[in-house]
Amino acid sequence: MSDIAKLQIGDNQYEFPLITGTENEVAIDIKTLRGATGGVTTIDPGYKNTGSCQSAITFLNGEEGILRYRGYSIEELAEKADFLEVAYALIFGELPTKEQLEKFHSDIKDKSIVDDDIKKIIDAFPKNAHPMGVLSSLTSALTAFNPSSVNVDSEEDMYNSVVKILGKFPVLVAWTMRKKQGLPLNYGSKSLGYVENVLKMMFEQPNEEYVQNEVLVNALDKLLILHADHEQNCSTSTVRIVGSSHAGLFASLSAGISALWGPLHGGANQAVLEMLEAIKEDGGDTKKYMAKAKDKNDPFRLMGFGHRVYKNFDPRAKIIKVAADEVLKELGVNDPILDIAKGLEQEALNDEYFVKRKLYPNVDFYSGIIYRAMGIPVEMFTVMFALGRLPGWIAQWREMRLGKEPIGRPRQVYTGENYRAFKDISNR
Ligand code: SDX
Repeated sequence: MSDIAKLQIGDNQYEFPLITGTENEVAIDIKTLRGATGGVTTIDPGYKNTGSCQSAITFLNGEEGILRYRGYSIEELAEKADFLEVAYALIFGELPTKEQLEKFHSDIKDKSIVDDDIKKIIDAFPKNAHPMGVLSSLTSALTAFNPSSVNVDSEEDMYNSVVKILGKFPVLVAWTMRKKQGLPLNYGSKSLGYVENVLKMMFEQPNEEYVQNEVLVNALDKLLILHADHEQNCSTSTVRIVGSSHAGLFASLSAGISALWGPLHGGANQAVLEMLEAIKEDGGDTKKYMAKAKDKNDPFRLMGFGHRVYKNFDPRAKIIKVAADEVLKELGVNDPILDIAKGLEQEALNDEYFVKRKLYPNVDFYSGIIYRAMGIPVEMFTVMFALGRLPGWIAQWREMRLGKEPIGRPRQVYTGENYRAFKDISNR
């Protein structure tokens, strides 16, 4: 294939270079388009056909259902790695040696204390505040208590910011949940693994010793790995564009949390459980909800189905579906919601509307069933998604800053009024 793209506008022809990635993805480099054509730009609502950057972190192939972090397949990472190893690989590019991982975890634990005044901010929220709003606020507030984390021009500053947020974020997650439950805001223990410590902080009861449950540890570790990154999705693109103004890491992450909150994005895992509960209350009438999902006059969508990139299947959903069966069996939980979910999936996979539009279960379809079996409240599901996505957001933000990318500032096509003279109010 030629390495240039030709564009004809009127009597003029323009040539633009083609960029080919390491997985043979091809893009037209239009950096010179506006200048070369005297002001012509492009329009692409939702950026369905537009790449925002070149990135070496995560590769997706939506047609073949492939997902790799730094070249490692999601299937192997979910099976053989732990979450902190995956976080290290996403952020720094290589799986860590034993010594590197131990130092990384030690540095994270050393930075995992949160200024106690953060509790005054949590206290100010009403108990019914959605945890994603609380978490976004607390994450942004971290900047006030850690001002040095804004200017990360040196690798050392960058590393310090990274270990600070990886240490403090799980504390904010646990405190956000426990505040709603009226439980004391505690710390875990530096003697525990990263995921074990998250569970202890979230579930420890003040009047009894917390006993780790390996089933819960392994389930959460796998779920966090599966959520860790997903190239230029809505919330990651938000983190990158906010960071491109040289806003600090914590402020950029706070914006990403807000983007993830939306029900079309990470908020879908909560919406899936609420949808499945509604179907259960409705006597398990999945056909009624399938009809609603296909009715153009009905805003209802089958939550947890469909994806901007995956037009075959979401490899994460396949792994989570198997894990859901295993975890519920190991926990001795019999949740009719899982059977409703499987029934819905089977109906959709055989329904012309869904097949034609290539709508398959995505990462959010089964994950909430495991979170619920673990005792995590449904309003905390998207917070758990954010906890998993944290290393991916960090890795993408770090790549953007180290790559010295320009501030993100898209153009537009103006469709409003042409010039008109001001009218005095007496003449309007
Ligand atoms: C995540 O981007 C990422 O990588 C995100 C994510 C990550 O890890 O970061 O993978 C995480 O956000 C997963 C997606 C979670 N969201 C949901 O489950 C919400 C339900 N799904 C949809 O709203 C939708 O599928 C999106 C938002 C996920 C994708 O939307 P697109 O790519 O913009 O597709 P579209 O809205 O243009 O839909 C194409 C057609 C439309 O019908 P027609 O106009 O062609 O007749 O498919 C229909 C849509 O109405 N459709 C659905 C549907 N999803 C799409 N119809 C019913 N139910 C659905 N779920």
